[in-house]
Amino acid sequence: FCDHLLLPKDFPKLKNDAFLLACRGQETPHVPVWCMRQAGRYLPEFRESRAGKDFFATCRSPAACCELTLQPLRRFPFDAAIIFSDILVIPQAMGMDVQMVAGKGPTFPEPLKEPEDLLLLQSKVDVNKELDYVFKAITLTRHKLEGKVPLIGFTGAPWTLMTYMIEGGGSTTQSKAKRWLYRHPEASHQLLKMLTDIIVEYLLGQVAAGAQALQVFESHAGCLGPVEFQEFSLPYLRDIARKVKDQLKESGLDVPLIVFAKDGHYGLEDLSQSHYEVVGLDWTVDPRSARERTGGKVSLQGNMDPCALYAPKERISEIVKKMLEGFGTRGYIANLGHGLYPDMDPENVGAFVEAVHTHSRHLLNL
Ligand code: CP3
Repeated sequence: FCDHLLLPKDFPKLKNDAFLLACRGQETPHVPVWCMRQAGRYLPEFRESRAGKDFFATCRSPAACCELTLQPLRRFPFDAAIIFSDILVIPQAMGMDVQMVAGKGPTFPEPLKEPEDLLLLQSKVDVNKELDYVFKAITLTRHKLEGKVPLIGFTGAPWTLMTYMIEGGGSTTQSKAKRWLYRHPEASHQLLKMLTDIIVEYLLGQVAAGAQALQVFESHAGCLGPVEFQEFSLPYLRDIARKVKDQLKESGLDVPLIVFAKDGHYGLEDLSQSHYEVVGLDWTVDPRSARERTGGKVSLQGNMDPCALYAPKERISEIVKKMLEGFGTRGYIANLGHGLYPDMDPENVGAFVEAVHTHSRHLLNL
């Protein structure tokens, strides 16, 4: 790992560091903004690039990932880029078959059914070999960004990945995966631990490849209650942050970590003390109360309802202004409370970004 890091990659100098400063709670000239799923089907150029191509084949092409990552930045002055990839590349690296089925979403033809199935998984994954294509995409994209904005790497969190591996796809109840928590707690912990080890290596590899911040997506926190969250999600989220930080420190590196536990508002206090610099929020949390509950310990990211982008531009501007007043301009990164939807109007995304920049500059100059 260290050898990897010492390799000079001659990355271009960063020109806009507002996002990285905000992650650390430092002063910025404006509030930085980016959108989850900013590279996505709401952009006609994205649909054109992806047309007729298999989703995971696209993920395995560094050139395609680079192009898709850069597309939204050509349109909007986002303050960060997020590498085009998917959280499900980890189950694939563990030997599971995952397909992206049009109109259905991610599908595992052979999901995990019972604890015995864990034996079918590759527990010692050679991350540098199996996920090398993601690292190549990150290095290429970091160069092609030309220092315009920082590049964010990401991973799914252990619990969220476990839900996909057991459900075999999207689910409203996550009842098959939750059945494991109640019926097979030991096997659940075994799987979560296995995933945690791979995730740590995967994130370190992303930093070595050029990622300048890392976001951990616990997208399925909402189906857990506080008790199950304490046992099956939080300890692993903490472990990931602690291990990644310790190893980076040994290499003299310090990369901000973001945790986004969707619908996990019950865990906000805990999440703010889990070694992440930034806590991402969905739209179900009030900005002021989120500030109070996290006690200024972390920066916050979010949390406009993505559906607010269906509103007329003037209304978007008002909503953004309120959101900025609620969070304050320091230690804050504007974003949506979840990803953009395919039917959203790119013009309104532009209006959102502009509203964040304009209102925050105004508030900062008062
Ligand atoms: O722009 C970005 O945000 C970066 C790229 C990104 C993708 N997936 C690309 C993608 C990121 C960060 C993800 C993470 C991801 N993938 C999550 C966590 C975030 C969240 O939404 O909670 C999850 C749960 C997944 C699994 C997954 N992949 C789902 C549920 C879907 C949607 C399926 C559908 O048909 O809508 C995907 C596919 C996917 N990943 C798309 C994109 C742009 C759309 C499909 C396509 O491009 O053909």
